[in-house]
Amino acid sequence: MTMRVPFLDLKAQYSDIKGEIDAAIAAVINDCAFVLGKYVAGFEEDFARYCGAKHCIAVDTGTSALHLALLAAGVGPGDEVMTAANTFIATVAAISHCGATPILVDVDPKTYTADLDGLRKAITRRTKVILPVHLYGRPAPMDAINALAAEHGVTVIEDACQAHGATYAGKRAGQWGQAACFSFYPGKNLGAYGEGGAITTNNDEWAAKLRMWRDHGSRQKYHHEMIGYNYRMEGMQGAILGVKLKHLDDWNRRRRGKADRYRQKLAGANLVLPPADDAAQSVYHLFVVQVDDRSRFQEDLKEAGIDTLIHYPIPVHKQKAYAQLSSQSFPVTERLAPRIVSLPIFPELTQQQIDHVAAVARRSVDL
Ligand SMILES: Cc1ncc(COP(=O)(O)O)c(C=O)c1O
Repeated sequence: MTMRVPFLDLKAQYSDIKGEIDAAIAAVINDCAFVLGKYVAGFEEDFARYCGAKHCIAVDTGTSALHLALLAAGVGPGDEVMTAANTFIATVAAISHCGATPILVDVDPKTYTADLDGLRKAITRRTKVILPVHLYGRPAPMDAINALAAEHGVTVIEDACQAHGATYAGKRAGQWGQAACFSFYPGKNLGAYGEGGAITTNNDEWAAKLRMWRDHGSRQKYHHEMIGYNYRMEGMQGAILGVKLKHLDDWNRRRRGKADRYRQKLAGANLVLPPADDAAQSVYHLFVVQVDDRSRFQEDLKEAGIDTLIHYPIPVHKQKAYAQLSSQSFPVTERLAPRIVSLPIFPELTQQQIDHVAAVARRSVDL
């Protein structure tokens, strides 16, 4: 039996909320509120409240959010910033954008987030920030990371780009670090209709600086107090995100339901499932499994009409862009890279589609 299962279906999501989205876009055009403006400000207020943070500063991408949050922490040349070796390159690039040195730490083989012992061992007098990544939608162990940071007088900034609404010990991503960074790339759990990003923080001074930095260092048009950037969010994205935020909890709940069904249907199969929830509650931005023969697995699924992706096929330290890190070794990350594969997961995925994916996956790995 073949049944088409896309990796993600943004058209299905749009058709569910078309009326609300179309009205929001029309309002932006009607008001000509194209860059920042009242729709972005409204979203900032709502998203800060949603995350349980005092401030939200909307920007153009998650990468810009990371760059500015690191600048707010005072990161510059000569400083070290520790993060997980298994992440999207943007996490590490943001450190480089500040002129600082990225210190990669291998990941825990069960949770895929930075290994705590590794973090402890890699801390030096030059460490300025720990940048944990809530990879695949599952928060890093924030209580232990914050305790380690406090012991060494180091700042914590969350890379929550994949973890909108995820909780650790009942507290949402976005309120654990001194700041947290989000991406609203279209495929994210909360995705814009284009690029988008945000920083949440409780720090008034940081919030004021971040607002200036994203808009050429100005509070008032054409009055530039510092050299900043053009990292402004577009009005259209603010309005769309404002609509979509109202649906986020429902979408995350549905994603978690899909993950449960995958677990049921794949129990006992010859593959490694994502870690179950503990203090960390995942919002399943991705459902990543490990298999022994990934090429065959992906081919078998493709033949059955199922799309899969890999997050990420080449670790950052093996990328040409980070040739200077190529002699470093992160055995867990390197072992995972050829084994991991992401199965389709999104709120509109049907039970039949999940059962089809699970049946084909099981047949492929158990042959
Ligand atoms: C973990 C992580 N960090 C940073 C980013 C960068 O976000 P953006 O693509 O919005 O710049 C992403 C987005 O893909 C991400 O997944």
